[in-house]
Amino acid sequence: MNDFFNKDIISIKDYTRDQLENIFEYTDKMMALDPIKRREICKGKTLSYLFYEPSTRTRLSFESAIASIGGNSLGISDISSSSTQKGESLGDTVKIMSIYSDVLVLRHPLDGSSRFASEISSKPVINAGSGTEEHPTQAIQDLFTIKKEKKKIDGLKIGIVGDLKYGRTVYSLLSGLGNYDVEVHLISPESLRIRSDSIYDIKKKISFTESTDIEEHIDDLDVVYVTRIQKERFPDEEEYLKVKGSYIIGLDLLQKMKDDTIILHPLPRLDEIATDVDKTKNAKYFQQAEYGKYTRAAMLGLILNENGF
Ligand code: NCD
Repeated sequence: MNDFFNKDIISIKDYTRDQLENIFEYTDKMMALDPIKRREICKGKTLSYLFYEPSTRTRLSFESAIASIGGNSLGISDISSSSTQKGESLGDTVKIMSIYSDVLVLRHPLDGSSRFASEISSKPVINAGSGTEEHPTQAIQDLFTIKKEKKKIDGLKIGIVGDLKYGRTVYSLLSGLGNYDVEVHLISPESLRIRSDSIYDIKKKISFTESTDIEEHIDDLDVVYVTRIQKERFPDEEEYLKVKGSYIIGLDLLQKMKDDTIILHPLPRLDEIATDVDKTKNAKYFQQAEYGKYTRAAMLGLILNENGF
């Protein structure tokens, strides 16, 4: 039986390096498969999604992933048109969705929401973003992208830039990187520094620095992971306005990087990467979004098939 069969994906902290590598191997296999054979993997299986927050890539990549492996999807992406509007609880909604499907994908503004849902659901739950806490499938996609584009993860110098306080992808990525031998440089405005208590365990596993100055290590980084300032999570708009536009990766900054530095972003991008960077060979964020479809298809294939595929 494969390790992921019939299991939830709630936190990247639940996985060992071997398990992550196993997902990467299955992702490679998924990418190499003939599309017709791929459609046999989850034939007739149903994925349901429940998104209490906006999403483009995560939801659509799950929909596209399940379709590519022969399954189908149903769900709620506009919560205002669901019974939540009438006051139905998250617990009841999850219970119902799990009756109608084989696996449930949830995005919710509260930390702990996916863990809670997994205790109620009769089917595996995949966390597609829980508050400011975690976004494990994004981190798996990010690690896979690094591995594909740099041919390794060990030994890399990785800069993580932007909203390190509220950006959940950052916490999942850091936890995932904790399984590798990497050097991490965290770059953020003072008010958006990493929540130290949330990375207590990671601090023991990887060496990292913190800085407000993006130029400090820029000429030495192999990966620059840029994040959006999470406007919607600021308790006060004034505070957001103070940090808005803090870092902008443009062609000028790109020139200071190594020739083979890759630039990643979980997207959506606002102004933190200038659009003229898109056409450079360093820009890998759209490729990263494409890999997300395959990493998710691989995860679904493993969750829904006892012996993998
Ligand atoms: C991220 C998220 O929802 O945390 N989006 C995504 O899933 N790619 C990042 C963000 O919203 O900035």
